[in-house]
Parts: sequence; structure tokens; C-alpha cells
Amino acid sequence: MNIENKVAVVTGGASGLGRATSSALSKRGIKVVILDLNAEQGQTLMDEFGSDRACFITTDVTDEASVQNAFEKALEQFKRVDICINCAGIAPAKKVLNKESKAQALSAFSLAIQINLIGSFNVARVAAEKMALNTPDNNGERGVIINTASVAAYDGQMGQTAYAASKGGIVAMTLPMARDLASTGIRVNTIAPGIMGTPMLLAMPEKVQNALVENIQFPKRMGQPDEFASLCIHITQNAYINGETIRLDGAIRMPAR
Ligand SMILES: NC(=O)c1ccc[n+]([C@@H]2O[C@H](COP(=O)([O-])OP(=O)(O)OC[C@H]3O[C@@H](n4cnc5c(N)ncnc54)[C@H](O)[C@@H]3O)[C@@H](O)[C@H]2O)c1
Repeated sequence: MNIENKVAVVTGGASGLGRATSSALSKRGIKVVILDLNAEQGQTLMDEFGSDRACFITTDVTDEASVQNAFEKALEQFKRVDICINCAGIAPAKKVLNKESKAQALSAFSLAIQINLIGSFNVARVAAEKMALNTPDNNGERGVIINTASVAAYDGQMGQTAYAASKGGIVAMTLPMARDLASTGIRVNTIAPGIMGTPMLLAMPEKVQNALVENIQFPKRMGQPDEFASLCIHITQNAYINGETIRLDGAIRMPAR
């Protein structure tokens, strides 16, 4: 896709990977619509980007009406949606049984599925509906959807049952979603990051961070949010990448703990 004059919706765009991606897209002249629960950080970004090039809409990705409303506003402001990048997510850590051998609350599992998996689908389905309104380009392309999974989709660690299940769901829905939307000229891909230097990771105790980095092969450091943003831009521009999940992880394979 030629990214000139395009409009992108980025969920979780107020922080971490979503924030870096919003910034990289904005620097390339793409209009960015940021959807996030964190209105304060969203507003700070708007001051940085300028209201003619970006807009922030307080949105809960799990809520049907909230997402519908966000896309209506995005269309009102920028007239089209070409790119959708799903970064909103949470990373809970809870073992199936706690130290007293009591079962974890079901609500903790449900919340991760609700935000990470159902939230991504909720946004993708409405994004596809709006992209379908676009006139196809010379390659027949109307839009690109990029979801964010995690290497935990393949090798979830102890305490990651809910997180791994939510991310595994994102990987699993990538191909059927790409197949569903192929005739509309919309590509669907997923990025499975490893250990990335974002507030989500940097909030962990230093000991945990160091242990995680120890498992990375090369380069032996956390991934940078900008590296995630570059991959989003490459996937957007490369019309032949479709229905795929790409690991972005320095060849890490997560051990049990
Ligand atoms: N940082 C990593 O190492 C890493 C690794 C693998 C996967 N991921 C995934 O990448 C994505 C981004 O992670 P990050 O590290 O940038 O995290 P982050 O915590 O910095 O950003 C996540 C953003 O999502 C928003 N959000 C959470 N729930 C929401 C909801 N219901 N509706 C709207 N917005 C909501 C938060 O407000 C926040 O701004 C997540 O899906 C995460 O699981 C991150």
C-alpha cells in the first residue's frame, strides 16, 4: 500500500508499542486516530502531533458502542480509514492455583480474553467495515489490519495461562480473518513481539526484566518500540504479506519461568 495520504487507527496508542507506532506513522504524514482508555496520555500526544494530523478518542476496545462511536468520529474527522493497528492490551500474571492451592478467580482469565482477544476482534471487524467503503487502489487493496499477539502465544510461561490463551487466539484468527476479508481487498497480519522496552515491561521488577533479557539470543536486549513501528510500516507497504504472524523477538524462546 502506498501510505501517502492514508489514515490509521491505532488502539493502545497512548503508550508503549501503540504510541511509538502512532508517532512513526505521523512522522510519515499519515493521519493517526488514537483509541485508548488513557485520556490524559492521549491528550499529551495530541499536543505533540497537532490536531490537524491526529485525533484522540477515549475508547474501551471491549465495548461495542465505544468502538463503533470511535470509528464514526474517525470518519467524520479524516473521511476514511486505511490502516488499523491493534495494540491495546494487558499482561496479567496469575497461576491457575495460588500459593494456598485455591483456584484463581475466573474473572481474571475472562478479563485478559475480553481485552486482548475480543477487543482486537471488536476493533478489526468495525475497521474492516469502514475500509470496505474505500475505493480500491491499483492492486485492489482497500486496507490493512495488524494485530498484536506475543511470543506467549507459542511458549507461555508459568502464570501466563490467560495471557497466552488471549494471544494464541489472536494468532489463530489471523488466517481466517485474512481469508474472510480477501475478497474486499483487506489484508490481515499479526506481530508476535518478544520482550519489548515499554511501560508494560519496564514496570516489572529489575530482576524479572534481567531474567527475561537473559533468554534473548541476539541482539541481547529488549526490543525497541520503534522496531515494532517499523515492522507495522513494512507490513502496510508490502502488499504480499497477508494472513501471517511474524515474530519480532531476537530469537527468544520463553522457558517455563
Ligand atoms: N511490551 C512487551 O514486551 C510486549 C510483548 C509482547 C506483546 N505485547 C503486546 O503489545 C501490546 C502493547 O503493549 P505495550 O507493551 O505497549 O503496553 P502498554 O501498557 O505500554 O500499552 C497498552 C495500552 O493499551 C491501553 N488499553 C488497555 N486496555 C484497554 C482497553 N480496554 N481499551 C483501550 N485501550 C486499552 C492502555 O491504556 C495502554 O495505553 C499489548 O497487546 C501487549 O500484550 C507487548
